[in-house]
Amino acid sequence: MTPTNDTHQPQGERLQRVLAQRGVASRRASEDLIREGRVQVNGQVVTELGTRVDAIHDKITVDGKPLARQKPRYLLLNKPPGFITTVSDERSRWTVMDLINVPERVYPVGRLDRETQGLLLLTNDGEVANRVMHPRYKLSKEYQVVTDRRPNDGQLQELRDGVLVQDKLVVPDEVRLLRETAEGIIIKLVIHEGMFHVVRQMMDKVNINVVKLRRQRVGPISVSGIPLGAWRDLTPGELEQLFEAIGLSREEAEKANARRPMQLEPMGGYTPTPKIRHPKRYAEVARHREKLEHGAEHVRKQPREGSGFSRRTSPSAKSNGGGTSGKARSSQSHRTRRPGGSR
Ligand code: URA
Repeated sequence: MTPTNDTHQPQGERLQRVLAQRGVASRRASEDLIREGRVQVNGQVVTELGTRVDAIHDKITVDGKPLARQKPRYLLLNKPPGFITTVSDERSRWTVMDLINVPERVYPVGRLDRETQGLLLLTNDGEVANRVMHPRYKLSKEYQVVTDRRPNDGQLQELRDGVLVQDKLVVPDEVRLLRETAEGIIIKLVIHEGMFHVVRQMMDKVNINVVKLRRQRVGPISVSGIPLGAWRDLTPGELEQLFEAIGLSREEAEKANARRPMQLEPMGGYTPTPKIRHPKRYAEVARHREKLEHGAEHVRKQPREGSGFSRRTSPSAKSNGGGTSGKARSSQSHRTRRPGGSR
């Protein structure tokens, strides 16, 4: 296909999108690469933004180097507490990438705090990542806040009325007492905001103690049924729903579904150590966590072989040459590190 800057041309994808999708750079940085004349399509320098290319057949180079072919990947991880949401960490702490084993260069979409668990999307599709995080698409996020004392009506009303966080009034779509369990009293909170620490800050403002924080859902995607620490690819149906929620067409979802490898059985998993086998009351759980977090640092710093999270090699990753690829990260070199600990 001849590259064209006819933005009405229905075929092809925008060049900057292809660059971002293949992990060359963010969309904005990819636009700079194009403007600077560093990108060629079929031997022709292209400086026009919006130029459409055939991402599969056109030969695209950046600074003379052909783009590595990458298939799109859309993963759903049930992040455990103790892992930071970043691709790499200069302090060698456990990151969410230590739980994932795929050859594609996926990265986390947005962030969860180290101690927050639950749904985290990872992808190598820059366009989808941008849209999921962009406030324009107003994707709702559902959290479960586990607390050790039943909040009173006044506290719940304060939340419903909206709480000022970083000078912005955050008014939840829903605040509801869900249930009382052995781990504590669970409050459901649905918001659109993705600000740093937003839920913890809201709870702090209304004096609700957060014992545990879990993200259950982002837009149409829910983490239900995925064990803690495990991941899988989005199902074709989930991808279609996600694309629709972020304003991408059904055809685009179908195209992505046709091109991507899919591991639909959850892989990996994580068992927090030490285990709380039969907590009698949430106060006991709260005390236990308190001890873990503040009073027993040495417990977490001790290497404990054979405990913590386990990995299995994904059959699909294997069939993609993924299990031992350079991109897939080995747990071996991290064996002496514990979530939350430092070296
Ligand atoms: N709000 C928080 O406070 N923490 C998270 O990780 C996500 C939302």
